Amino acid sequence: MSEQKQAEAERELVEMARRVLPGGGFGNVSHEVVIAEGRGGRVWDVSGNEYVDYLLGSGPMIVGHAHPEVVQVVQQVAAKGATFFANNEHGIRLAAEIVGAVPCAEKVRFVSTGAEADAYAMRLARAYRKRDKVLKFEGGYHGMSDYGLMSLAPKRAGNFPQPIPDSAGIPKSVRDEVLVAPFNDLETVASLIREHRAELAGIIVEPFQRLVPPQPGFLEGLRKLTEENGLLLIFDEVVTGFRFAYGGAQEYCGVTPDICTLGKAIGGGFPLAAIAGRADIMAHFDRGAVAEDAFMTQIGTLSGNPVAAAAGLKTLEILKRPGAYDQIFKTGRALMEGFAQVLKDTRLPARVVGAAPMFDVVFTDREVKDYRSAMGDDAMLKRCNALLRERGILKGENKCYISLAHTAEDVRFTLDAFASAIAALRSQRAA
Ligand SMILES: Cc1ncc(COP(=O)(O)O)c(C=O)c1O
Repeated sequence: MSEQKQAEAERELVEMARRVLPGGGFGNVSHEVVIAEGRGGRVWDVSGNEYVDYLLGSGPMIVGHAHPEVVQVVQQVAAKGATFFANNEHGIRLAAEIVGAVPCAEKVRFVSTGAEADAYAMRLARAYRKRDKVLKFEGGYHGMSDYGLMSLAPKRAGNFPQPIPDSAGIPKSVRDEVLVAPFNDLETVASLIREHRAELAGIIVEPFQRLVPPQPGFLEGLRKLTEENGLLLIFDEVVTGFRFAYGGAQEYCGVTPDICTLGKAIGGGFPLAAIAGRADIMAHFDRGAVAEDAFMTQIGTLSGNPVAAAAGLKTLEILKRPGAYDQIFKTGRALMEGFAQVLKDTRLPARVVGAAPMFDVVFTDREVKDYRSAMGDDAMLKRCNALLRERGILKGENKCYISLAHTAEDVRFTLDAFASAIAALRSQRAA
C-alpha cells in the first residue's frame, strides 16, 4: 500500500472510532495513533510510522512484541481450543511457577484483569480480618473498582485520610470504607492505624507507587506496623511482578506481604491476572476450608484461560533465563542516565523518576516522594510526549516501560530523539 493510502486508512479508522467509541477510543491513551503491528521493542501504526515502543501494551510485553517463542506456543494452544471454564494444564503450571517464584505466594487464584485482582485482594483482607476498612495511599493505582478509584488521581488536595473519588457513579458509602495516607509517610500510617485499628482490615500499596520508589525503611515499616496490629499487607504487584526481579518487588525490596496481586507480565499480553498469598488467607476462596459465611464466591468465565496462561508461562520462562533482568536493567539505566544528562545540560526544572524497568521524566524541581510531589508540570510532559512521538518514540502518558527486546540501537535512537524533543520544548517555552 502506498504511504498516502496507509495514512488514509488510518484517518478512516480514527473517524470510525470517533463514531462508535465514547471519546473515540478504548479509554487508555491518545486516540490519534492506531497501532497495526508490534515486533520486539518497536511498533508500527496503520500509516506505517515506526516507533520505539516504551508503552509496551502498558507493561505486559516485557519480552517484546510478538516474541517468536510466545507466538508459537499461543498458536499451538489456541489450535486446541481457546477456553474451557475448567482446570487446564497451562493454568495449573503457571500457578505452580508463581508459587515457586513469588515469596508470599502459597496459593494462586486467577482472574482476568489487575483491577479484578485488586478488588478481590481487598475483599479477601476484609473477609479474613472481618473488618471493613482498607488503607490505601494517595495516588496508588489499584484498578478501576469503586475502592481502587478512591484518591487515585485527585485533582485537589484533600485532607488525609478522607478519600476523594476519581469517578462519577461511586456510591458515597465507599468513602467510609477507605482511608488514604501519603505514600512514604509511615508516621501518618501509624497514627491512622492507632485511630482506626478496630475497623481496619489491611493496607494495600504499590511497592513502587507509579514511579515513586519507596524510601528506605518504608515497606519494612509497613510490614512491621501491619504485623504488630494484626492487619494484612497487600502488595499490588500488577506492574512490578516479574519486572523488578523474578520474584517481583517483594524479592527486590526484601519485604514479604501477606497477599499480592499480579497481572501484566504473567499473561504474556493476554488477559490474565492473579491474587496470590498465604494459604490460610487464600483459604477463603475454598468452600471446603472455611465456614460458609467466610467463603468468598469467585467465578470468572476466562479465569486461568489456557492461551493466556501458556503465553504467560513462556514469557516467564524467557525472563528466567540467565542475564534477562541484567539486560532490562542495563537498558533502563542507560536511558535514565541519558535523559538525566540532557535535562541537566538544558537546566530544565525536571528530573528522571523511577527505576530501570520503568521510569519517566517529571517536570518539577522538587524531590519526588509521594503523589503530590510527583505532580509535575503536566502540560509540559504532554508536549514532551507529543514531540517524542513525532520523533518515533511511543510512551505512556507518564511512564516508559523497558523490555528485554530493546536494543543498544533503540537506546541511541531514543537518546537522540529525547535531546531533540527537549531542545524543541525549550524553544517553545522561550517563544
Ligand atoms: C499497579 C496497578 N494495579 C492494577 C492495575 C489494573 O490492571 P488492569 O488494567 O489489568 O485492570 C494497574 C494497571 O495499570 C496497575 O498499574
